[in-house]
Amino acid sequence: MKPGTRRWSRWPVAAGLAVLALLGAGCAADAPLTTLEPEGPIGRQIDDLWRIVFYLAVFVFVVVEGLLVLALIRFRRRKGDTSEPAQTHGNTRLELGWTIAPAVLLAALAIPTVSTIFALAREPEGALPITVTARQWWWEYDYGDGAITANELHIPTGRPIRLALESGDIIHSYWIPKLAGKQDVVPGRTNHLTIQADRPGTYLGTCVEYCGLSHANMRVKAFAHSPDDFARWLADQKRDAVAVTGLAAQGRRVFESKQCVSCHTIRGTPAQAKVGPDLTHFGSRTTFAGAIFESTEAELRRWLEDAPAVKPGSKMPSGVADMGLTDEDITALIAYLQALK
Ligand code: CUA
Repeated sequence: MKPGTRRWSRWPVAAGLAVLALLGAGCAADAPLTTLEPEGPIGRQIDDLWRIVFYLAVFVFVVVEGLLVLALIRFRRRKGDTSEPAQTHGNTRLELGWTIAPAVLLAALAIPTVSTIFALAREPEGALPITVTARQWWWEYDYGDGAITANELHIPTGRPIRLALESGDIIHSYWIPKLAGKQDVVPGRTNHLTIQADRPGTYLGTCVEYCGLSHANMRVKAFAHSPDDFARWLADQKRDAVAVTGLAAQGRRVFESKQCVSCHTIRGTPAQAKVGPDLTHFGSRTTFAGAIFESTEAELRRWLEDAPAVKPGSKMPSGVADMGLTDEDITALIAYLQALK
C-alpha cells in the first residue's frame, strides 16, 4: 500500500456522512420552512411545476449517467489488450440527436414554466389587499382603515391575499414557503405577491435577501383564520388602543415621557411616530422584534433593557444605557405593552 492511500479512502465515507446529514436535516418532518408541503393553491402550483422539472431532470440524469457507465464498462481496457481502440471523428446522427433532444425537452419544460409564471403574476379576483413594508428588521402590515400591525400577518383562509410589497430602506425579500414563492422587496417600487392558505394555522417565513446585521432576525409569522375569526381580528385591530389602569397606566406615563413616544404609534394616545412598529395592539401579538422573541415578560425585559444586545444593529436604543429606564420603569412598560390587547 502506498503511503497516504488509507487517508484518502476515508474521504468517500466522510462525504457520504455529510450528504446523509444534509438529507436528514432537509427531510425533518416538522421543518417549518419547506416548499415541499404546500398548504395553499399558490404553493401547490409552484410545487406541481417543481415536480415536473425534478422528475424530468432525474430521467435525464439516469439516461446520461447510465450511458456513460455502460460505455465505461463495455469499452474498458481488458487485461493483455494492447491494441489502440478505433478512432472516430464526428457522427452526424449522434450530434443531431443530442442537440435536438435537449432542445425538445427545454421547449416542453417552457410550456408549464411560462404558464405558471403568468398564472402567479395575475391578480386573482376577490383578493384581500394588504400593504407590507419591509424595514430593518421587521415587517409592517397595513390593512387599510388604520389597521396597522407588525411582524405577524393575519389572513383569512380560502381567499387569495394580494400583498403589495414596499421597502422603507433597502432590498429585502418576502417568503412564506408553504403559501407562496419568494418576492423581492425593493425601495422605490411596489412588487406584488399572492398568497393563500387552505386551513387555519401558523405559517412561518423569513426575509430571504441579505439586508444587514439582523437579516437572520427578520422572520415572518403568519396566522390563517376562518373568515369569521379573521373579520373579528381585523375589527379589533382597527380600534384605538384600550384604556389602561394601575401599573399599565404608570407604564403609559413612562412611554409618553421617554423616547418611546418619538418612534412608535399607539393609536388613541399622543404617541404617533412612525419609526418603529405600531404598538396599538401589541398585547395581541405572540412575538415581537421581527418575530424572533416570544411576547413574554422575560423576553420583553431583556429587550427593553438592551435591545441592541439581543438583536444586533437594532434601531431600538438600549433602555438602560441610552434611555435611562429604571427597573421600575421597565416593569411598568411591560405591563402597559401587555395590556394593549
Ligand atoms: Cu430583510 Cu434580509
